Amino acid sequence: MLEIRHLSKSFGALRVSDDISLALGPNECHAIIGPNGAGKTTLIHQISGVLRSDAGEVRLGGRDVTGLTVWQRVQAGLGRTFQITSILPSFSVLENVAIAAQAKAGGSMRFFAPAARDAALNDAAAAVLTRVGLADRMEARAADLSHGELRLLELAIALAARPKVLLLDEPMAGLGRTESAALIDLLAELRAEVPMLLVEHDMDAVFRLADRLSVLVDGRIIASGPPAEVRDDPGARAAYLGAEA
Ligand SMILES: Nc1ncnc2c1ncn2[C@@H]1O[C@H](COP(=O)(O)OP(=O)(O)OP(=O)(O)O)[C@@H](O)[C@H]1O
Ligand SMILES: [Mg+2]
Repeated sequence: MLEIRHLSKSFGALRVSDDISLALGPNECHAIIGPNGAGKTTLIHQISGVLRSDAGEVRLGGRDVTGLTVWQRVQAGLGRTFQITSILPSFSVLENVAIAAQAKAGGSMRFFAPAARDAALNDAAAAVLTRVGLADRMEARAADLSHGELRLLELAIALAARPKVLLLDEPMAGLGRTESAALIDLLAELRAEVPMLLVEHDMDAVFRLADRLSVLVDGRIIASGPPAEVRDDPGARAAYLGAEA
């Protein structure tokens, strides 16, 4: 579904991603862990198109998307959430998701009358919001949501574009224990529908969700494989997991 080949990126003399290759199959959750500053967010930005790579290739469903803009990649089926959110605060929760659904539907809805189009978009948005557990907050202003609810709204916005692949950069960040547990359950369900690349520090989430685990250190993948194997890999332990254990 997603394949990256030999991606590299430097900021001045600092090589932040160094020849990174990985593949994400259908119904697969591939987690990326690594210390602060390892280059995880940079890698997600290279895949989503926020940052242009110095070298390498990004393929989505067999199609080369390396030269496409962020928006073109969203249209091609790359869904993402940001470490920093990009929500319209004065709009309602429902409006935020309907706007995302509309942006994706675009020209394909031009034959609908405006009222029918609005109804279809609102229905689609409401269905996604129900899915993520925000059904009772649809009329609230986004500005009035709690941090945990905002994270769910972000996820709903990504899902409204019907992505082929989801890129998640620390979705558990700042969530309390109960909220994290609920989000892990939700992602475990979603994984059956949309493969995900998950950057996460929360090891409970990683070991519950990931089919594959890669450890990124100083811009390089130093270990990759089934989570139980990577957990026992001496290099990975020394570099990162040891600190957690
Ligand atoms: N726009 C930029 N210009 C220069 N250096 C940058 C830029 N963005 C990131 N860096 C540097 O690249 C390195 C990797 O940063 P990145 O944000 O990708 O790490 P990360 O693994 O996501 O860390 P964290 O776990 O803290 O989110 C860091 O040393 C950071 O300071
Ligand atoms: Mg980061």
